Amino acid sequence: MEKYLINPNQRIAKINKNIYGHFSEHLGRCIYEGIYVGEDSKIPNVNGMRKDVVKALKEMGIPVLRWPGGCFADEYHWKDGIGPKDNRKKMINTHWGGVVEDNSFGTHEYFELCRQLGCDTYINGNVGSGSVQELSEWVEYITFDGVSPMSELRAENGHKEPWKLDYIGIGNENWGCGGCMDPEYYGCLFKRYNTYCRDYKAGEHIHRIACGPGDANYHWTREVMDKVKHHANGLSLHYYTVTGTWQHKGSATEFDNNEYNTTISKAYKIEELINNHLAVMDSVNPQKWVQLIVDEWGTWFDVEPGTNPGFLYQQSTMRDAIVAALTLNIFNKHADRIMMANIAQTVNVLQSVILTDGEKMVKTPTYYVFKMFKEHQNNTLLGSYLTTDYISAKDNNNAEFPHLIESASIDENGIIYSTIANTSLNKSSKIKCQIADRKVKSVKAEIITADCRDKNEFGKKEAVKIEKFEDFRKLSDGFTVNVPACSVVKFTIE
Ligand code: AHR
Repeated sequence: MEKYLINPNQRIAKINKNIYGHFSEHLGRCIYEGIYVGEDSKIPNVNGMRKDVVKALKEMGIPVLRWPGGCFADEYHWKDGIGPKDNRKKMINTHWGGVVEDNSFGTHEYFELCRQLGCDTYINGNVGSGSVQELSEWVEYITFDGVSPMSELRAENGHKEPWKLDYIGIGNENWGCGGCMDPEYYGCLFKRYNTYCRDYKAGEHIHRIACGPGDANYHWTREVMDKVKHHANGLSLHYYTVTGTWQHKGSATEFDNNEYNTTISKAYKIEELINNHLAVMDSVNPQKWVQLIVDEWGTWFDVEPGTNPGFLYQQSTMRDAIVAALTLNIFNKHADRIMMANIAQTVNVLQSVILTDGEKMVKTPTYYVFKMFKEHQNNTLLGSYLTTDYISAKDNNNAEFPHLIESASIDENGIIYSTIANTSLNKSSKIKCQIADRKVKSVKAEIITADCRDKNEFGKKEAVKIEKFEDFRKLSDGFTVNVPACSVVKFTIE
């Protein structure tokens, strides 16, 4: 029997709701088709946004949406995407499939989408191929409420009121697709671009995100932090779970048990990366002024057979749900230093929460994990500890990952939420949970469980979803439970 202790007296940090954030790039069928179909589409929409997708994302509790990239951000010129649609410039999306980008989804459409979703806003600016003036004017266009060339242009384009911009990314992956820069050079550029992104409205600070490392590039973290620590609010980290190699990543749906273990062991590496990058950040800036933002994460498999390789369309299985639950529990545990995280990407790209095919839509297993975990948003992280054994991934140099991984939080009414993932393919786990200094009145539970290869498909009954779970016993100070293999369970404890 594993021992699980939750301590309501140990209140660690507020879990920023934006840890549950999402990312939508002009890539494949994420924005176009997946989210935006245009007002004239026969697919039901409000101002061009798919009604079914907006409803599903709201129900899931989407707190923030990053846009327009990714690599696309550093070749995006925002003025191409405003004004009458017929006059908008067309360009080639050179990063993603070489397709024509008609700019029909631009700044006004993005803010309309966020209005419909009721979520925070995060635009990623162009440093790689854009100018300081261009980025400065974008911020002015979006947020300035007085008389100025950009606020007048916005009004001419039909939006007199400014919008609220919560976060701005100053470049994306500038060590790679964002300009192949050295960290010292990028750090200086950050300061220059950032200077002219003004906070126009008193009391409304735009959080500034510096481009951070990919994977284990600690040199990048150290050098950039050294330059930006007085100016940035966040440093981004990108980490993708790639099961095979970048050339042969493996199928999203057809895999054996060893490949499953490899995937989970690689997903678990994010904990080491978070700890190490935070240690480097703290060594440069012990005052901890800069928070970590994991603004791209998730699984990356080979594209579905027969689809455009540049569109990164992959199906999603229960394996992805385990990756999501493991990762979100790790983010919760670092709530004191992680301000935001954005899974890649919202619809039809990489580890999506939603897939679409024409008028049809499915919610992926990952969708249900985000929905299940949404109560953690803005709660307070509690001290908690769960004993566990470790599973080793034979095909990944025996890298180990925990059989059980959890986090627990408390809301303002004193209700405790605990989310546990059982990552084992064949071993259920008996757990005895005790809540310190608490008389437990009631316990409720929900579960997501399936074969690790199960997926949700268009036009079929959902194979993976949230279900009621009753296979536990309430105790006066907690509960006992047998958590099934390959499952994610949430307990609500009053
Ligand atoms: O999410 C797909 C791509 O992965 C993004 O455009 C880029 O930032 C990263 O390399």
